[in-house]
Amino acid sequence: AAVTVVDHPLVQHKLTMMRDRDRSTKGFRELLNEIGMLLAYEVTRDLPLEAISIETPLQRMEGRQIAGKKLVLAPILRAGVGFLDGMLSLMPSARVAHIGLYRDPDTLQAVEYYFKSPSDLADRTVLVLDPMLATANSAVAAVERLKSRGAKDLRFVCLLAAPEGIARFQEAHPDVPVWTAAIDSHLNDHGYIVPGLGDAGDRMYG
Ligand code: PRP
Repeated sequence: AAVTVVDHPLVQHKLTMMRDRDRSTKGFRELLNEIGMLLAYEVTRDLPLEAISIETPLQRMEGRQIAGKKLVLAPILRAGVGFLDGMLSLMPSARVAHIGLYRDPDTLQAVEYYFKSPSDLADRTVLVLDPMLATANSAVAAVERLKSRGAKDLRFVCLLAAPEGIARFQEAHPDVPVWTAAIDSHLNDHGYIVPGLGDAGDRMYG
């Protein structure tokens, strides 16, 4: 599936501000929410519309609404929650699935500690959210888990991706397209994206 780099000037400007090591926790959090809104706009660009009949104050007309059931936003804890408020401000009726995963610092394997999702995933478009796609272990595990609960129509949204992570994710889930604000150089020995922005969860929550 496709990888879309969202090259919009607002996204790139805000991303650069986030990378700055001197950015405060408050600033980092605000920027991630703002970029969340902009990425939400891009990732929903091709959602199908259906006709709906409404009445304006002047006359009846055929309007358009997004077809099908409400979307599901599926943030990977903790850092994925940083996208949530921004995206919910554009899609206030979306459902939310919480996926708790941490990356074992030694093995870099994703370890699940929480999972709670709406039961009717099969009928909904699911946007999986995590700012960082590093080894992709977390993203691969989250999508597997959602698929095992019935999800069929998934999209993955991140802020930064490593080329290694994109390759791994596409191999594991070729049916899930990826949106990212940037593809960085590489992963270092500790599985951090370089140049990256450090540990997104820590920068947001301490
Ligand atoms: C970080 C990051 C991603 C994951 C990416 O989470 O927020 O979820 O690692 O790495 P991967 O692609 O190699 O799996 P971390 O385990 O630090 O948890 P946190 O978000 O709770 O800080």
